[in-house]
Amino acid sequence: MDNTALWYVGGRWVHPNEATLSINDITVLRGYSVFESLRTYHRRPFHLEEHLSRLARSAALIDLEVPYTREFVAAIIDEVIEKNPYEHASIRILVTGGESEDGILPSGKPTLAVLITPLGERDMERFASGIKLITSDLQRVAPEAKTVNYVAAVRSLKNAIRYGAMDALFVNEQQQVLEGTRSNFFVFQGDTLVTPRRGVLLGVTRNVVLELARGHFRIEERPILLKELASIDEAFITSSSKEITPVVQIDDHVIGDGKPGVRTTLLEQYFIAMVGRGNF
Ligand SMILES: Cc1ncc(COP(=O)(O)O)c(C=O)c1O
Repeated sequence: MDNTALWYVGGRWVHPNEATLSINDITVLRGYSVFESLRTYHRRPFHLEEHLSRLARSAALIDLEVPYTREFVAAIIDEVIEKNPYEHASIRILVTGGESEDGILPSGKPTLAVLITPLGERDMERFASGIKLITSDLQRVAPEAKTVNYVAAVRSLKNAIRYGAMDALFVNEQQQVLEGTRSNFFVFQGDTLVTPRRGVLLGVTRNVVLELARGHFRIEERPILLKELASIDEAFITSSSKEITPVVQIDDHVIGDGKPGVRTTLLEQYFIAMVGRGNF
């Protein structure tokens, strides 16, 4: 943790080791709050508007009234970039549930916090080798909203590490593969790109990748059945921090020849070129 960083927490600019939140905030007591995680490239936020829209959508989905305007939050984001030296960074926007008199219903104003941490250069090794995932039958709460309840994610990730995997994929009771703990999931069946649309957090990177793929590949937004994994040609996950990351193994099943696929590599090249042009 870079303790020289400056974060915005509840109206004050503080260093990470000075940042505090009330113990009576129902974020802490009950896990009730929403957040966003976005990144910058060369000090410019990647698709900020989409992240602000998703923050509003998440809040509406869990009935949390946000007393901060979109313009205000955007201005704080500009300021947090300005006040910190990071060339590439991850920015987290947190809107808490607010303090509570009775420990369950909010009675205070939600706190806004904007946190920034540095990111390194793109990890080309991850692109070249791909990653291994395991499946998890744990379920996210309110999966279409980005709330701070990541209990299923933390448990699944701990399990993935026990199995020597990088991450886990959530599979629901209908045996549909949904998404990663912090990423969206895509497969290629021939030249058809498939990704789920329902029961997942609609990632900003997911939407950008679908746009990049349009015109090059057939696109299907539909459930992916667990049994379909036996016949896929390629797979990858997407997220703000991991961009496009090839998946080469899921549980015991090796995908294709165990190396990142050609179509995934092509999409990565489009993605890297788009970022390089600053076209976001
Ligand atoms: C559950 C979940 N799905 C998908 C994503 C990917 O979203 P994005 O591409 O906006 O980073 C995230 C990001 O943290 C996530 O937590």
